[in-house]
Amino acid sequence: MHVSIGIIGATGKMGKAVLLASLKDSNVKVVGGCASSSSSEIGKDLGLLANGQPLGIFLSPQLDAFVEQCDVLIDFSSAGVTPKYIQEAARQGKPIVIGTTGHSAETQLIFETAAKQIPILYAPNFSLGMALCIEAASFFARHLKGACHIDILETHHTQKKDAPSGSALAIAKGLDFGGIYPGNVVEAPRSKEAIAIHSLRRGDVVGEHEVIFECDGERLTLKHQALSRETFAKGALKAAKFLARSSPGLYTMKDLLHEKR
Ligand SMILES: NC(=O)c1ccc[n+]([C@@H]2O[C@H](COP(=O)([O-])OP(=O)(O)OC[C@H]3O[C@@H](n4cnc5c(N)ncnc54)[C@H](OP(=O)(O)O)[C@@H]3O)[C@@H](O)[C@H]2O)c1
Repeated sequence: MHVSIGIIGATGKMGKAVLLASLKDSNVKVVGGCASSSSSEIGKDLGLLANGQPLGIFLSPQLDAFVEQCDVLIDFSSAGVTPKYIQEAARQGKPIVIGTTGHSAETQLIFETAAKQIPILYAPNFSLGMALCIEAASFFARHLKGACHIDILETHHTQKKDAPSGSALAIAKGLDFGGIYPGNVVEAPRSKEAIAIHSLRRGDVVGEHEVIFECDGERLTLKHQALSRETFAKGALKAAKFLARSSPGLYTMKDLLHEKR
């Protein structure tokens, strides 16, 4: 199935990765991309921005320029502007893949309201390996509840704006324990009901997550490393194809992983 996509946040690290992945995917066509109106790249050829090869598609300061030609929108801009784009997608009746992280409870409500009108897939991490890691961690936690301490260690590059990462929070949500220690603060004596999330920001690490189950006399560790942004970009394109054949609703990577076709 052929899908036309528009990229929101097309000048960013992930926006460019999505553009490059789509050039390698014969079932996807990029029809437009936007950045903020203050971007110095407005009007430039998207291909030149991404890999030096002109595409004849130019960076726009708004969605209006290309939204009608899109089957699906993909948003990798920033958490602050995602609500505006979801509402615009709902007005235009276009499915939207949300890749931004660090959303507030108010924004989650906007996701839910818009999902009554359009298909939305939100994933803080588009790698299929991470989707499996979340499920595996949840499986271990069900068996080890009350018998271990759980730590989630996440490491990302120094440009990342939110902490803990959306993926660390998604893992923690799937563990369904008593709560999450705020920041890296752990109370003493440490309860076996709460999860501690530790965030590191160093170098250009794409994304690493480790879930450590510390039990009496044994330690179980689950580790996921994203080795390049292409992994996320390919997952986002899979999500776009999934939304193009879906009814309105709020989907996650779990729905994509378990889709029966
Ligand atoms: N789900 C996943 O798998 C995954 C993976 C990696 C990252 N992420 C998340 O994706 C988001 C982007 O990450 P990144 O590393 O690509 O960040 P980035 O390099 O800072 O890119 C964000 C882009 O958004 C653009 N932008 C800002 N305001 C905008 C607006 N009003 N309209 C349209 N575009 C706007 C910025 O360009 P201008 O300022 O020039 O407009 C910038 O190029 C973050 O929230 C990050 O946590 C998710």
